[in-house]
Amino acid sequence: MNDMEFEGKVALITGAATGLKDDLMGFGGATAWLFAQEGASVVLSDFNSSLGEETAQQIKQAGGQVTFVPMDVTREKDWIDAVAATIAFFGKLDMLVNNAGIFVDGTAESTTIEDWDKQMAVHGRGAFLGTKHAVPEMRKQGQGSIVNVSSIDGIVGGPASVAYASAKGAIRLFTKSAAVQYASENIRVNSVHPGYFLTPLSRETFSDPTQGDWRIARVPMGRVGTPDAIAYAILYLASEESSYVTGTELVADGGLTAQ
Ligand code: NAI
Repeated sequence: MNDMEFEGKVALITGAATGLKDDLMGFGGATAWLFAQEGASVVLSDFNSSLGEETAQQIKQAGGQVTFVPMDVTREKDWIDAVAATIAFFGKLDMLVNNAGIFVDGTAESTTIEDWDKQMAVHGRGAFLGTKHAVPEMRKQGQGSIVNVSSIDGIVGGPASVAYASAKGAIRLFTKSAAVQYASENIRVNSVHPGYFLTPLSRETFSDPTQGDWRIARVPMGRVGTPDAIAYAILYLASEESSYVTGTELVADGGLTAQ
């Protein structure tokens, strides 16, 4: 890799608010730090504006070229505004990371229509709208890379949540179709599939020892992952090093789905 992998590149990352130093980070926050360290200009976005602003401020103070834009990924207007803001701040868009996510427990019987629709909206519609509005800007650059954060729950079934898994599965196949549709324009689309990680989203699950221990016992490496492992997976797929990689799924799960 070059010293500065992303010098001159511009990224938009959703769900990037949870990135405070000395606090439990999420994937979006960890990715924003890594991309900024690698020289990218980064637009952090999230619907948690106060935390997003704070994270962006910390990255800026550390020398990163970043800004924060509030956005609900389920709203098309917010996407139009966020992409326009990215162009206004940094002049172009090279990389999009569709990372925003929420979780809800439930079987097919216990899941409400509202929860089902919400999962589909944040994950499926979010990745769709992001791609829809990022591609025209990437086309102007003659290249682009979109990384969608799915889950191992988008590959194999699990007992926790039928709605979350279905929405993550939608991201996986959306990724492959978009990859085929835009391959000839040198716009790559790939998905990342984290296993069990301790982040703000999963903190509650891991605070219950029964639930936490059950998960760790399933992982051949015998531990949960740390967000930087996903940030580096995203970095690879966003970078030139993966220039011939599109429509693929990068699993980071300590060996869980290898069994
Ligand atoms: P996180 O809670 O730190 O990050 C999710 C972020 O998305 C939050 O900042 C939240 O405010 C934001 N968000 C939620 N709904 C939004 C919306 N409608 N519009 C804009 N922002 C919204 O949690 P984490 O774990 O870093 O999650 C990131 C992604 O990774 C999610 O898509 C999650 O499903 C996925 N994931 C997480 C795993 C884990 O073990 N933590 C495992 C597999 C996938």
